[in-house]
Amino acid sequence: MLGRILFGLTLLFFTASLFASTGLRDYQSPNRLAVGAAARSSIISNSSESLYRTTLAREYNMITPENELKWKATEPAQNKFNFSSADVIATFALKNGMKIRGHNLLWGLSNPTWLTQGQYSATQLQSIMENHISKVMTHYRTQFPGIVTTWDVVNELINAGPGIWTPLGKSTDKVTQAFNIASIALKAARAADPSAKLCINEYSLERNGSATNTYKLVSRLKKAGIPLDCVGFQGHLSTGSVTKSQWIASLTAFAKLGVEVHITEFDATNAPPAQYSNAINACLSVPQCKAFITWGFTDKYTWRGTAAHPLPFDEKYNKKPAYDTLKNALATN
Ligand code: G3I
Repeated sequence: MLGRILFGLTLLFFTASLFASTGLRDYQSPNRLAVGAAARSSIISNSSESLYRTTLAREYNMITPENELKWKATEPAQNKFNFSSADVIATFALKNGMKIRGHNLLWGLSNPTWLTQGQYSATQLQSIMENHISKVMTHYRTQFPGIVTTWDVVNELINAGPGIWTPLGKSTDKVTQAFNIASIALKAARAADPSAKLCINEYSLERNGSATNTYKLVSRLKKAGIPLDCVGFQGHLSTGSVTKSQWIASLTAFAKLGVEVHITEFDATNAPPAQYSNAINACLSVPQCKAFITWGFTDKYTWRGTAAHPLPFDEKYNKKPAYDTLKNALATN
């Protein structure tokens, strides 16, 4: 009798601990859907932030370094690379069976002063860009094989504009300009890591994706045979709602161009469960939607400031209703 009780208790304990260690990452195969969050190396390294680490590793199978792979961090002086912060995240990912989304290889923002103030010619800019893409991607391909599976090769090229990269656009037409710049970057990225997924990442695509200049850009790149595997929908939502059908229509329109679609930086002011539900369920109903990533995971650390509360965990790492929405969608689809 005592033996049975002990056995029962052990089983109960075992089941409870199994349940406790289940995270969002456990409900879908990573090939169907990567479930991720942006993270910061400084917090991963902070000895008093163990809940940050355990939550991140338990819940997610993909991390996007929030700032550590931007030019300012990786090439602070010309051709002198610094991977120390991003390597902290790659090491964490390796240890916890996670993959990394490399963010990003080209953007009009967060660039080092030597680059923004250098007044380089188009020819010089092209070789600076090709060198950067090659060195950064080669570091991760060789030092962390199989970890950085996906790269945001170009970020916000249409909506934020090309900034310092404008001379490589060789046109005043926004789409042509973006096409010329993206072509150089994507070709350099394919040469540096032929097996990585190469993405264009952009905001404001979710409501009416097929009407955007990014849609025109992707369409032209695919027609021209430029290497491009995926389009990232950032999905930063503030006021107003995005319906599930808007998400589905926009994701599907891009998918029909022959690319995967990823939701890459999701957050929503006050984390309304309906907004989380619309996005995740839309993604799960589009076969080419292969990643759902939030921009951070705890309201303690969000680029939107402490008043926005846009993420699935509160400041104390408690699960919020938005978390349950994600879990239910992932578990039932
Ligand atoms: O690390 C420095 C620190 O040394 C310095 O003392 C401090 C003073 O301001 O700045 C710190 O750097 C800040 C960095 O975040 C790290 O916290 C930068 O000023 C700040 O501009 C930077 O903001 C980031 C922003 O991109 C610009 O790169 C946000 O954290 C990051 O969430 C945000 O992420 C972007 C995506 O890359 C692209 N899509 C939109 C998204 C939100 O804006």
